[in-house]
Amino acid sequence: MKLPSPNAQPLVSSALRGLRAKSAPSVRTALPAPSLEGTVPLETCLRQRRSVRDYTEQPLSLQQASQLLWAAMGATNPAGLRTAPSAGAVFPVRAYVMAANVEGLTAGFYSYDVDRHDLSLLARGDKRRRLEKAAADQQCVGQSALLVVLTGYYRRLLREFGEGSQRLAAMEAGHIGQNFSLQATALGLGSIGLGKFDPTSLKMLLPIPQDEEPLYLLLAGCV
Ligand SMILES: Cc1cc2nc3c(=O)[nH]c(=O)nc-3n(C[C@H](O)[C@H](O)[C@H](O)COP(=O)(O)O)c2cc1C
Repeated sequence: MKLPSPNAQPLVSSALRGLRAKSAPSVRTALPAPSLEGTVPLETCLRQRRSVRDYTEQPLSLQQASQLLWAAMGATNPAGLRTAPSAGAVFPVRAYVMAANVEGLTAGFYSYDVDRHDLSLLARGDKRRRLEKAAADQQCVGQSALLVVLTGYYRRLLREFGEGSQRLAAMEAGHIGQNFSLQATALGLGSIGLGKFDPTSLKMLLPIPQDEEPLYLLLAGCV
């Protein structure tokens, strides 16, 4: 991906512009407070974590969705630091959620606000089948209850780290993915991180801003 100049005007896909016009102000859903004390030891999660590609149709609870998002990249300190580390604390990785089978959430595509720990609805509808196609027909996409798209947003990172920015954002996405899967293990859920997908098709399907690059897909579901 060609990196945008840090001074470039924000580019927003026509899909997103249309949606913003239609749906402003966005509908926010507050997530329940995450549990900050677990019952499964870290070593057990490390030992039991596996990439899981088959999920049942049982929905995730809103509490489980909240817990997964908080564990992945949630705020842990008043200065804005998070569960996952970030080069220079720039936090260039953003998260979007396709909630297809989560109790209490309209099926749709949301952006996750780390500081508010809430979700803003960007587009209604379950896009899993088309996302599955964009991810090389991997059936786990169509089965997942919740799918997180991690994107890299390079504007500030470029100013501080120059051309190494994409690499740094990808590393951060890896940290976030590991947090997500360890938390899924602790909750008794299945999860996987997918790198095999076509970022261009993904951006045509979903209202992701033009200047963000899809880096990693995280799936979770009941097993
Ligand atoms: C960056 C990354 C991308 C991956 N992409 C895919 C993928 O697209 N499809 C898939 O089935 N597994 C994917 N995996 C999962 C690996 O296949 C899996 O981690 C590996 O087989 C080891 O199994 P385990 O995770 O159960 O230990 C990915 C893993 C990583 C770290």
